[in-house]
Amino acid sequence: MGRIKIIGTGSYVPEKILTNYDLEKMVDTSDEWIVTRTGIKERRIASPDEATSDMIIEASKKALENAGIKAQDIDLIIVATVTPDNLFPSTACWVQKALGLKDIPALDISAACPGFLYALILAESLILSKKNKRVLVAGAEMLSKITNWEDRSTCVLFGDGAGVAILEEGDDESGILSSYWAADGSLGDLLIQPAGGSRMPATYETVEKKLHTVHMKGNEVFKHAVKKMGEAALKALSKAGLTGEDIDIFIPHQANIRIIEATCERLKVPKEKVYINIHKYGNVSAATIPIALDELNREGKLKKGDVILMDSFGAGFTWSAVVMRW
Ligand code: UT7
Repeated sequence: MGRIKIIGTGSYVPEKILTNYDLEKMVDTSDEWIVTRTGIKERRIASPDEATSDMIIEASKKALENAGIKAQDIDLIIVATVTPDNLFPSTACWVQKALGLKDIPALDISAACPGFLYALILAESLILSKKNKRVLVAGAEMLSKITNWEDRSTCVLFGDGAGVAILEEGDDESGILSSYWAADGSLGDLLIQPAGGSRMPATYETVEKKLHTVHMKGNEVFKHAVKKMGEAALKALSKAGLTGEDIDIFIPHQANIRIIEATCERLKVPKEKVYINIHKYGNVSAATIPIALDELNREGKLKKGDVILMDSFGAGFTWSAVVMRW
């Protein structure tokens, strides 16, 4: 039985760039504060008529081309997002429609920032168990549409974008070597979109109080992120019989440059092996890792045999790491 490998990647970010200087005109903040506290310089913002599935469709076309296959070769679509087009039907079903596919399963999963890694783990086990052959996995977010643009503690952090990977079983040493995933629902209130679901359906009051936007206790989340990003990575590496020193490319979730630095230190991964794009996109939640993967792939920075560690933490809380050989 071969390992499950990525045969193609694609990504899409909206054209509009919102810089820290633009934000200085909107809330009481400064480029200096944002750069030193987070590492972010700018982020991409979708247009009012754009939805999450539109971004995934663009990224999917590129991933299909990169894999050298047709949409009809896909037999399952998994979309990881917390900013779906609608609560239902799933965003994956809109993607299926746009790709002209019929009679294949399509579903969304909600696991916040590690959503793409959760989806990879699911896709891997479905292919290994022979339920599916070729899976399109997307991580996509349109966080600008659930951002409170008057709250400086959150509005400087997030951006929009989508990344896609296509998976199938390989016949050599390449592919997923190990993975780890976990969650702790007892801490869910620390990072939450409070309204819009069955707990607090939409009312005039929920809209007035901006309860449909991201609410985060930033410094609490920060502490847990540092701890769990390290833990997830070490657990996945140890399952593969590897240490941080064996990593060729580390793709961490890009929520805060200080979290990335602390994780690198714990894993003993040198700076030159870490891929960082937080300055360009901010935190794009589930889209962060697949966008980074696609950028590395297109820049020719992924060489056959490279050991790649992907590692993420987010709302739930959820955390996950995947180790793969390119
Ligand atoms: O992707 C899912 C996981 N998410 C994360 O991992 C995010 C984790 N959290 C973080 O990255 C950081 O906690 C933040 C970047 C959100 C905040 O940084 P911090 O160093 O934890 O700052 P803080 O929240 O403790 O606030 C420090 C000060 C406060 O002022 P006082 O009370 O000391 O006077 C804030 O009001 O910074 C102030 N502040 C700002 N000042 C200028 C908060 N946001 C801003 C801002 N501009 N945008």
